[in-house]
Amino acid sequence: MSKEDDRIRMRSLEAWRLGLLVVPWAFLLGMLAILQEGPPSSAMLGKTSYNLVDVSAPAAAGPLLPWVAWVVARSPVSPWILRYLLNANGAAVVRGFAVEHCAGIPPAWYPIHKATASELELGASWNQPNRSGEDHQGVAITTTDAVLARGLEGLGHPEQTSAYRSVQDYHGVYRSGKATPSDVMERWWEGSEQLAGLKIFASAAHREDLLAQALASDARWNAGKPLSVWDGVPVAIKDQSAVQGHPLCFGSSECSLPQAEDDLPAARLRAAGAILVGTTVMPEGGVTPLGYAPFFGGPFNPYSKGHYSGGSSAGSAVAVASGLVPMAVGWDGGGSIRVPAAMSGCVGLAVTWGRIPYKTRPFSSVTKAGPLAATIADAALAYLVLAGSEPGHFYNGQIGEDQIPLPHLDGIVDRSSRVDREDRRPLKGVRLGIFWDHFRHTDPEIVTRSEEAVRFLEQQGAELVNVTIPHLREIHLSHSFRILAEFGVTWESEFYNASYALEANTEITLALGRSLSAGELLAVEKIRTFAIGLLRDKVFRGDNLDAIVSPMLGGRVPSTPRGYEGYGESNTPLVYKIMRYVPLANFLGLPAVSVPIGYEADTGLPIGFQVMGDAWSEAKILRIAGVLEGFSSRKPPPSPNHFDVLEPWLGVGTSSG
Ligand SMILES: *[C@@H]1O[C@H](CO)[C@@H](O)[C@H](O)[C@H]1NC(C)=O
Ligand SMILES: *[C@@H]1O[C@H](CO)[C@@H](O)[C@H](O)[C@H]1NC(C)=O
Repeated sequence: MSKEDDRIRMRSLEAWRLGLLVVPWAFLLGMLAILQEGPPSSAMLGKTSYNLVDVSAPAAAGPLLPWVAWVVARSPVSPWILRYLLNANGAAVVRGFAVEHCAGIPPAWYPIHKATASELELGASWNQPNRSGEDHQGVAITTTDAVLARGLEGLGHPEQTSAYRSVQDYHGVYRSGKATPSDVMERWWEGSEQLAGLKIFASAAHREDLLAQALASDARWNAGKPLSVWDGVPVAIKDQSAVQGHPLCFGSSECSLPQAEDDLPAARLRAAGAILVGTTVMPEGGVTPLGYAPFFGGPFNPYSKGHYSGGSSAGSAVAVASGLVPMAVGWDGGGSIRVPAAMSGCVGLAVTWGRIPYKTRPFSSVTKAGPLAATIADAALAYLVLAGSEPGHFYNGQIGEDQIPLPHLDGIVDRSSRVDREDRRPLKGVRLGIFWDHFRHTDPEIVTRSEEAVRFLEQQGAELVNVTIPHLREIHLSHSFRILAEFGVTWESEFYNASYALEANTEITLALGRSLSAGELLAVEKIRTFAIGLLRDKVFRGDNLDAIVSPMLGGRVPSTPRGYEGYGESNTPLVYKIMRYVPLANFLGLPAVSVPIGYEADTGLPIGFQVMGDAWSEAKILRIAGVLEGFSSRKPPPSPNHFDVLEPWLGVGTSSG
């Protein structure tokens, strides 16, 4: 071997060594570049065009999902992947908007709305005890007490909604003496067994518990002293709030011992005489609006087992849609009441932030409790029971002890018989805002049906107003970041200290939330203040609107992917698309209701429509949605996924009216 050969060999060895050094360094530098948050991107303020775009991220379902979760959430490269996903989906857009346009705007942290003097007065006058009776001219006056005693007789559209038994129907059966609550709960038990395959309950009440509650109700009815229109009516509560005698699982495999006490929603319903039949399934931590909870193996959409039920108040929606209860309580931080109501075919009301108090952690800045119900009247009756401030509650400290109005149904029921509505269209004088570019950004069949619903509202006297809501992209992303951060923090102990394994999709969601930077979160909260001003001052007050209406879902009810059983699905692009009309009500703390307006032609799955109001305007949006109930007939799910609890006493498909 020559010296020359030796030299060449040495050189190539050196090159190799150099290469071995360069490659990892280049890799590391490249990765570090990804870890940077990058420069903020710029947006022109006040540009009124519609700017909402989809997000992109990998999706997975089935047995592959735990591996994807490991790589994204726990592996050595997970910080890079998480940062890449945030950067690729608009982190710079959020920071850029805040830097450029929100410099002098303080962060919001909570969507706090102080009630107007007239709203406070209205609530107070409806809720004066013992005021029902007559005014000084001898005319009957309606109060909350009076409505809760009698119900909302004559309200709604019996011929359209009779497919579902309402609170009023149960009340009518008891009042007429056709059956007692214990008769009805015997039949209810049959129904719960028939519908067991839908996987509605996280914890179902035992037979003895149901019987004891029913017997107590029997006794009150026998004494002629029912507690309210709810006495003897079966209701359920999402597995997110304590119900005495039931464990609390938040959709996870780690459940608490049975709770010793009711949280406020259960306590208020119990005090009104309702029978609590159990807690309903939600996906772990409430992190997905698709609804399927791997640990509980359900629930299923009663219209089609191959489609998602919607979530995260999944079991609550299915309990109502399948006919088992006229009302179940849910929580909505990113559409979790409205989305399952739309997908499974019932009414869903998410209230103003602060309206319905509850004590079970966490107190989220985007989440509100509210009813999923068979009809708007049932949602309204539940709202009257559940709403109203609680001494010492977290909300009081935020909003102000005396700034939370009492609930009322002004405009829904005529306050006094002096009002003559005979020759008046029910929505005369009501102004409805529509952002058409946004409105039409969903499935064509949903657009067509929603446009027909708008025409119906117009025929009922409503006036349509074209509105624009600029910067929807920045506002929606801000909501996503905030709710992700809240998920990350809320379930943090489980993430770090898991005595049990989190589900794969939960892990990915939590990891994304935890990887947001402080600067990004501060930007989000400044944008929240900006958006509250935009929506309330410019849109609602500027255009003098009573509500903003839109389709409820950004697409058709999604089908479940192959192999998802037991694993679930992680699909941010799909979730973001479905949530296209959801975030404003959560991020800005405004009330919104979803109401069924029809069914997809080929699948028969439900189509929902949203009415969103300004703060504390629940009575207004319920009134509008109540009129809209007259637009389309409701079709209950096909047998055997529907059960008519009151059939033996009311006959097939008729209403007590
Ligand atoms: C409102 O928007 C619709 C749909 O884009 C349009 O056809 C209509 O002319 C607009 N109305 C007014 C008053 O601008
Ligand atoms: C982690 O688990 C231990 C033992 O169960 C417990 O004492 C501790 O409080 C937990 N830490 C967190 C942050 O939850």
